[in-house]
Amino acid sequence: MTIVVIGGTGLIGSKLVKKLREQGQEVIAASPSSGVNSLTGEGLADALKGASVAVDVTNSPSWEDAAVLKFFETSTRNLLKYEAAARVRHHVALSVVGTERLLESGFFRAKIAQENLIKASTVPYSIVRATQFFEFVQKIADLSTEGNKVRLPPVLIQPMAADDVAGALSGIAMSSPVNGTVEIGGPEKFRLDELIRQDLAARQDPREVISDPHGRYYGIAVTERTLVPNDDARLGRTRFADWLHAAKPGAKTLPQRA
Ligand SMILES: NC(=O)c1ccc[n+]([C@@H]2O[C@H](COP(=O)([O-])OP(=O)(O)OC[C@H]3O[C@@H](n4cnc5c(N)ncnc54)[C@H](OP(=O)(O)O)[C@@H]3O)[C@@H](O)[C@H]2O)c1
Repeated sequence: MTIVVIGGTGLIGSKLVKKLREQGQEVIAASPSSGVNSLTGEGLADALKGASVAVDVTNSPSWEDAAVLKFFETSTRNLLKYEAAARVRHHVALSVVGTERLLESGFFRAKIAQENLIKASTVPYSIVRATQFFEFVQKIADLSTEGNKVRLPPVLIQPMAADDVAGALSGIAMSSPVNGTVEIGGPEKFRLDELIRQDLAARQDPREVISDPHGRYYGIAVTERTLVPNDDARLGRTRFADWLHAAKPGAKTLPQRA
């Protein structure tokens, strides 16, 4: 069984390629640097020839509203068209838990467009919705920082390690399509303000977190359960504190991007 990972050089893609190879799968890591471009279609026919499964873990280089929508619509249309022609039997795509509750943001409107194209296509599929990755927790603080203060709402969040995302995706890629959505998340729920306090403390970052019910998440208004998955979500094993301590405390040595 050949599995093509589109976006195979990214944070999740590179971990996924490694895990699938460790399990003896034949894997093609596809990305613009290897001559495969899902936006233009370049290299897709060759990469997908003889493949059973395609996993889409691409991301848009720009998160500007129009650019990100164009990226996910065009890229997904191209992938599904070339996959149908190559008789690929399973399209797996990585999306985000709570996408339909985050539509104030152009990024999530683009992710919903991606999901809808997949649902409407003839290619059997599994949409995997993951919660926020630990690797992006620092970015949440950066986007809500004014001066030395980080204003965040005390809503629930259940983040997960990128390693666990890749582990779940590898299992799903090697299974039959669910023709529906699977949610995955971390093993623990946190209050968003408290999670960021822990992350900043571990990084010895002096910013102060202010709990503010009107604070925003990536600039989006959120409520108590906007960011958490359903009760039937598959949960990763890595705990946030263990992930933080996997590197010596100190901003420069904490895990960032694989
Ligand atoms: N951040 C989160 O917490 C979170 C949570 C749930 C789901 N997700 C989803 O996870 C997915 C993957 O995220 P990530 O952080 O792993 O992304 P990433 O590290 O930014 O990697 C993106 C990948 O897409 C590739 N790519 C970009 N443009 C392409 C194109 N035109 N054709 C083919 N490949 C292209 C990149 O190739 P190059 O290396 O050559 O640029 C790279 O391999 C995203 O769709 C995101 O929505 C994210």
